Amino acid sequence: MPASKTTSKATSKTRNYRPETQLVHAGTLRSQFAETSEALFLTQGYVYDSAAQAARRFTNEEPGYQYSRFSNPTVTMFEQRMCALEGAEAARATATGMAAVTTALMGQVRAGDHVVASKALFGSCLYVVEEHLPRYGVTSTVVSGTDLDEWRAAMRPNTKTCFLESPTNPALDVLDIKAIAEIAHQAGATLVVDNVFSTPLYQKPLELGADCVVYSATKHIDGQGRCLGGVILGSEKFIQDNVHQLIRQTGPSISPFNAWVLLKGLETLAVRVQRQTDNAATVAVALAGHPKITRLIYPGRPDHPQAEVAHRQMKAGSTLVAFEVDGGKAAAFRFQDALKLVKISNNLGDAKSLITHPATTTHQRITPAQRAELGISDGLVRLSCGLEHPDDLVEDLTIALEAV
Ligand SMILES: Cc1ncc(COP(=O)(O)O)c(C=O)c1O
Repeated sequence: MPASKTTSKATSKTRNYRPETQLVHAGTLRSQFAETSEALFLTQGYVYDSAAQAARRFTNEEPGYQYSRFSNPTVTMFEQRMCALEGAEAARATATGMAAVTTALMGQVRAGDHVVASKALFGSCLYVVEEHLPRYGVTSTVVSGTDLDEWRAAMRPNTKTCFLESPTNPALDVLDIKAIAEIAHQAGATLVVDNVFSTPLYQKPLELGADCVVYSATKHIDGQGRCLGGVILGSEKFIQDNVHQLIRQTGPSISPFNAWVLLKGLETLAVRVQRQTDNAATVAVALAGHPKITRLIYPGRPDHPQAEVAHRQMKAGSTLVAFEVDGGKAAAFRFQDALKLVKISNNLGDAKSLITHPATTTHQRITPAQRAELGISDGLVRLSCGLEHPDDLVEDLTIALEAV
């Protein structure tokens, strides 16, 4: 939806550029001032040349902006750059990742419908599926995401959509997106994939058969701890049928300022994610045989439980490593408290390395039995690797392990 006073050279559409190039140029709408860096259109509304023009904008006879709850040029640039990166026809940005997940799911269902989801979901996503949707008459079944028979068995005639994240939070299971998309489609349902942990660079759910991809742009896309945001991507039809009106009328819209921060974040996404993934791989190698660590999970390693699926559907490992400290919660706490460089935080995807103890933070709401089922033991910690020098990271982690 380009604005009348901006020009788009549509860099990404004229040639088939590689992701690193798209991340810097795609979707740019240059104003009449020909600025190098994308402009921040910090405006609520837009003015019209005439009453007739205003009327034409509202009936969609004339393209252009009307109100920033619906769309805004800076937001459009962020959405278009995400589309180019993801290979999606359409996108809508949202205020947070949770707004993206909630909108993508709520937009598809009506009372009487059914949703199937993997149980290994970020806590708030599980809340939406298990507690929020049922309030509106939408039932749900949660399955063990890696067990394809469980997905098959959960499908019902009224199943409208399936939802998963892969790799999962925090145990980094890798789910077979292609196979689950086939199961969903055979049952007449769609598949929505939360691609946060893998980033748009390493996994392409739409190419694997998913109908919709959602992101918490708060994570790697900003990647510098500044603002929250989300994005929903899919075909033009999926977005028009399920997402566009819901965002326009109910308003989980992103602020232009946050969209601008995220747009600038995209410019450096490839270099940051590459470096963070290299750091995670280095940490995984350094800690794998450590005597104080009883289990280490990294999607790039051959000993990962779903190594074959990871190899097939992901271009690279992950910026995250999960490992179990010998001695349960007390040992995991001593270890975290002894870290000097790595910060304790439940966030991830940041330039700063962050560590969390899921059993007492992100996953404290679920029961010990549910945690056990998800592989979240009391000794498990999840490390999100940042941009520090890998030797400093390994040093910090190994010195802290001595405190255990
Ligand atoms: C996998 C996953 N999905 C969704 C979200 C929600 O994103 P946000 O915090 O931007 O609402 C998060 C983290 O918070 C997450 O880790």
